[in-house]
Amino acid sequence: MTTIGVIGGTGGQGFGIALRFAQVGENVIIGSRTIDKALAAVEKAKELLGDIPNIQAATNPEAAKAADVLVLTVPLAAQRDILLSIKEGAAGKPLLDATGPLESCIGGSATRYIDLPEGSAAERSQSILPDAKVICAFNTISQSWWLQLDEPIDCDCLISGNDEDAKAFVTPLIEKIPGIKVVDCGKLERARIIEKITPLLIGLNIKNKCQFGGIRITGLDKGRA
Ligand SMILES: NC(=O)c1ccc[n+]([C@@H]2O[C@H](COP(=O)([O-])OP(=O)(O)OC[C@H]3O[C@@H](n4cnc5c(N)ncnc54)[C@H](OP(=O)(O)O)[C@@H]3O)[C@@H](O)[C@H]2O)c1
Repeated sequence: MTTIGVIGGTGGQGFGIALRFAQVGENVIIGSRTIDKALAAVEKAKELLGDIPNIQAATNPEAAKAADVLVLTVPLAAQRDILLSIKEGAAGKPLLDATGPLESCIGGSATRYIDLPEGSAAERSQSILPDAKVICAFNTISQSWWLQLDEPIDCDCLISGNDEDAKAFVTPLIEKIPGIKVVDCGKLERARIIEKITPLLIGLNIKNKCQFGGIRITGLDKGRA
C-alpha cells in the first residue's frame, strides 16, 4: 500500500483526489495549513466513504514527511509558500502537481492562462523544490469528476516529468482509480501544454453549462507494431 499525502487536501480538487485514492485502498493523508481543517476534511471523508481506517489528517509538512507520494493541490498564489513548508518531507519523492496557472489567481478569468517565467506551474514547483521529483498531473480532470464517487472517471490523466522511474511508479497507482488512463506526455516542460488544457476545459464547461468537460487521447495503440 502506498501512502499518498495530499498537500492542500481540504480544497475541491485535493479532497476529491484524496477520496478516490482512499476508495481504492491506498493510505491517504489529507494535508492542510491547520490540523483542525484537515481533521474536519477527514470527518467529511468518513461520512462519504464509511468509517475506513486508511484516511488520516495532518499539517502539510507532517503529511509530506509521512507520505511516499505527494499531490499538490493549492492555488498558484500559495504554491511557493506551501512548497517551502514541505521542503524537507518532499525531498526525493514523486510530487504530483495539479497547480493551474489561471488568470483568476490574479483577479482575472479562470478561462485564461497566465505565462510564468519558469514556463509552467510544474516547472516552477521543480525550481522551488529541486530535490522533489515533480510530475505535472491531474490538471485535466475537474473536481466534479473526482467527487462523483460512484462513477468511473471518463478522462485521461496527462502527465509529464523528468524522472522516468517516478512516472513509472505513479502510473499504475493513478490507474487504480476506475476509468482513468494515464498518458505520459514526456519531459516536465510538456506541462506548458498540459496546463493550458485546464482553462480550455473551464471555458467549455461554462459554454455547455456543465462541470464534467474532460479529455481523452485516442489512437496511441492503433497500428502499433
Ligand atoms: N478544482 C478543479 O477542478 C481543478 C482542476 C484542475 C486543476 N486544479 C488546480 O488544483 C489546485 C487546487 O484547486 P482547488 O480548486 O482545490 O483550490 P482551492 O479549493 O481554492 O484551494 C485548495 C486548498 O489550498 C489551500 N491553500 C493554501 N494556501 C492558500 C491560499 N493562500 N489561499 C487559499 N487556499 C490556500 C487551502 O487549504 P488549507 O486552508 O486547508 O490549507 C485550500 O483548501 C489549483 O492550483 C487549481 O488550479 C483544480
